[in-house]
Amino acid sequence: MNYSVRKFDAVIVGAGGAGLRAAIQLSEAGMKTAVLTKVFPTRSHTVAAQGGVAASLGNSEEDHWHWHMYDTVKGSDWLGDQDAIEFMCRKANEVVVELEHYGMPFDRTDSGKIYQRPFGGHMSNFGEKPVRRSCAAADRTGHAMLHAMYQRNVKANTQFFVEWQALDLVRDADGEVLGVTAMDMETGEIVVFHAKATIFATGGAGRIYYSSTNAFINTGDGVGMAARAGIPLEDMEFWQFHPTGVAGAGVLITEGVRGEGGILRNAQGERFMERYAPNAKDLASRDVVSRAMVTEINEGRGCGPNKDFVLLDITHLPPETIMKRLPGIHEIAVQFAGVDALKEPIPVVPTCHYQMGGIPTNYNGQVVVPGKRTQSEIVPGFYAAGECACASVHGANRLGTNSLLDLLVFGKSAGESAVAELRAGNRTHKPLPQECIDQTLARVNRLNTQKGGANVHETRLDMQRAMQKHAGVFRFKDMLAEGVEKILGIAEQVGQTEIADKSMVFNTARIEALELDNLIEVAKATIVSANARTESRGAHVRDDAPDTPANPNGRDDANWLKHSLWYREGNRLDYKSVKLTPLSVDSIELKTRAY
Ligand code: FUM
Repeated sequence: MNYSVRKFDAVIVGAGGAGLRAAIQLSEAGMKTAVLTKVFPTRSHTVAAQGGVAASLGNSEEDHWHWHMYDTVKGSDWLGDQDAIEFMCRKANEVVVELEHYGMPFDRTDSGKIYQRPFGGHMSNFGEKPVRRSCAAADRTGHAMLHAMYQRNVKANTQFFVEWQALDLVRDADGEVLGVTAMDMETGEIVVFHAKATIFATGGAGRIYYSSTNAFINTGDGVGMAARAGIPLEDMEFWQFHPTGVAGAGVLITEGVRGEGGILRNAQGERFMERYAPNAKDLASRDVVSRAMVTEINEGRGCGPNKDFVLLDITHLPPETIMKRLPGIHEIAVQFAGVDALKEPIPVVPTCHYQMGGIPTNYNGQVVVPGKRTQSEIVPGFYAAGECACASVHGANRLGTNSLLDLLVFGKSAGESAVAELRAGNRTHKPLPQECIDQTLARVNRLNTQKGGANVHETRLDMQRAMQKHAGVFRFKDMLAEGVEKILGIAEQVGQTEIADKSMVFNTARIEALELDNLIEVAKATIVSANARTESRGAHVRDDAPDTPANPNGRDDANWLKHSLWYREGNRLDYKSVKLTPLSVDSIELKTRAY
């Protein structure tokens, strides 16, 4: 099979928020930068982010980055690295104002400042009461953000390769990263993008689950590629279930709805969150709200003929507030739930939304792996940012609106780190390792020759159903163990899938098969890491690690205050310590998490 080679200073895989932000940094510094993307940049999954981006601007009431940091550490159930969290929260105002200067059309307060709304888990004065911290463009914040950053990239001459599927990381025998192999989806042409710096910004892999708010493109491509190249995956057991996906459809209803005053009710009309989180109520962190909803449903207080959803009620809000601040939600409720939210509540269920773990990085966006001398050695030439990366600022549970902040802050810092390395002359176009390229070609070639293997679509469905059943909102010891066996069995089938159409020209069957190679790595990492972690923490809650009066969170800090690292080779786990020391302030001390 033929391939060609193209040289760039930097190649970025993914044109969502993190990829676009990193590209701005590189292109504006004069670096020859390629961005590979499966879809047109402004259709990347960041477009689906609705409610806002967190920054303690304090435009409507007093706020402080230190309070934001406290909330993020608490939200993470203390698994987040406190140096990275301080870095992110301190940088928030800067990156949001930069975005404003790129032309982002934020909503405005009466005095012309950026509009901010409350969001779950964001509190003032170290957990006292909800605070307005989410900077919003109605309920289309991600959409507005992508357009502002895409235009900035066009101005800076970033070269976009649209409808290209990245295949594999090119990593040589010294462990250095020298670019990626990729396929032009239209023609089947294969190109090695030979780069001095490679940045992964491929987003999450929410499509490992059956019910997900994620786009179909969210197949964990970067995470899968990293795993195949020998990079361990960090904290993959932690998946966020967003409380409000439209029942039956999975489409996201922003937490901004509750920020604007929306209330969750059970079949008796009760505002049940008052029982689970007396202080924050409907604005408790997502893991807490999702579990409360599932408990209500499991205990028979769900709504509808099957009692399998709860209701999100905004009928008490002024219609003009809904149509001004939440116009997209009004539309989604009509189209996907068949209800007019001005008059009737919206049926909702927790739905898989966000991957807290990923490719391990430091807060400079550099990929770090355990080395011979220390736990964190930098992989030369390799950077990652956004949902595919684990910086780790979200720990065991992410706060809403910290995702858009994460991709801005770490997209920028990954770009800055790459620019610094390039300017210092530390990176050259080292010779490409032929063996590594041959492995990719063999993977593509297999799909041209495989006969009698498993069907891609059915295999993916098996994986999604297994993940939904065995690693959902609540997890059970026996189910997890069974899930490991199931997913490992499905992984065997993935290596032997057959596609009916073998032509190299625009072939969605081939792309789906290549994507499944990545999804299955994520599914394996998730189920194996979840089975091994025998405590409850954040979004990972097990029946054999319940809340007790002595341990109200089911957490086991003595044994499990550590990050997991899953290695594809040998399907093995290792662990590394959590960074409990921030950059400039005192550590946020461990305590019971209550809202
Ligand atoms: O609810 C939302 O608008 C989603 C935001 C997020 O995931 O950060």
